Amino acid sequence: MSIQPEQTQQAAQIIDKSQSIVILTGAGVSAESGLATFRDPEEGHWSKYDPMELATIHAFNKDPELVTRWYHWRFTRARDVDPNPGHHAIAALQKHKSDINQSLTLITQNVDGLHQRAGATDVVEIHGTIHTWRCTITNKETPLRNLSFEHFPIPSEAGGLMRPCIVWFGETLPQEALERSFKAMAECDLFISIGTSGTVEPAASFILAAKENGAKTIEINRDPTPNTGFVDVALLGASGQVLPQVLSEIRIEI
Ligand code: APR
Repeated sequence: MSIQPEQTQQAAQIIDKSQSIVILTGAGVSAESGLATFRDPEEGHWSKYDPMELATIHAFNKDPELVTRWYHWRFTRARDVDPNPGHHAIAALQKHKSDINQSLTLITQNVDGLHQRAGATDVVEIHGTIHTWRCTITNKETPLRNLSFEHFPIPSEAGGLMRPCIVWFGETLPQEALERSFKAMAECDLFISIGTSGTVEPAASFILAAKENGAKTIEINRDPTPNTGFVDVALLGASGQVLPQVLSEIRIEI
């Protein structure tokens, strides 16, 4: 089902008029950079592993070498790809709104750091980041670039192990990220969900909370999600193609 031009124009007009925007992104935004999403089949060596099984403290405690190797593989893939036009469009929109003293809060479920590499700032990483690891005993954090992957798993100075600062299934989200998210949602007049299946809480309910606070809602996603039925504008397509088209309607160049 192709996107009608009037839908793109409608989304662009809503974005142009909005004074305080929240954008929530998921793995779909990074798909066009070549990073597999969570609920699409993974290709290659890791296809026999289920991320839902590996991204848990149970899996790490049971086989820290396997889980460390998986995250090292995910990190090297994220390092070796580039932000795509969808990342650049979001960064350009954030800069445009900031230049005219309006706000755009970017909340991401992604841990790959591609939004920041595209120039986005103050990114709220509600599921953490692969670029920082911490000791399992002291919780002392270390940037990934300072770690040596000579051994798997990675021993910490305190005699524990190093793990990524990523929120694993069953773990609590970073308090500061949650507080920033709820504050932005309470104040926004537009909530845009991009490249997320809308299946993992609490992020999955953010768009409905914003709508109940009176915000307009836009969804840009390759496939329909549980939120598609109630948003004001649903653009079904690839974010790296749709976002530049929407921004070109309001003359924001990437
Ligand atoms: N453009 C837009 N959307 C896309 C694209 C694309 N090029 N490619 C895929 N999608 C959509 C898919 O249709 C799907 O709805 O992106 C969504 C990705 O969904 P998931 O794989 O479930 O990823 P995500 O929503 O980010 O998962 C949320 O779940 O696994 C946990 O912690 C993990 O942060 C992750 C969370």
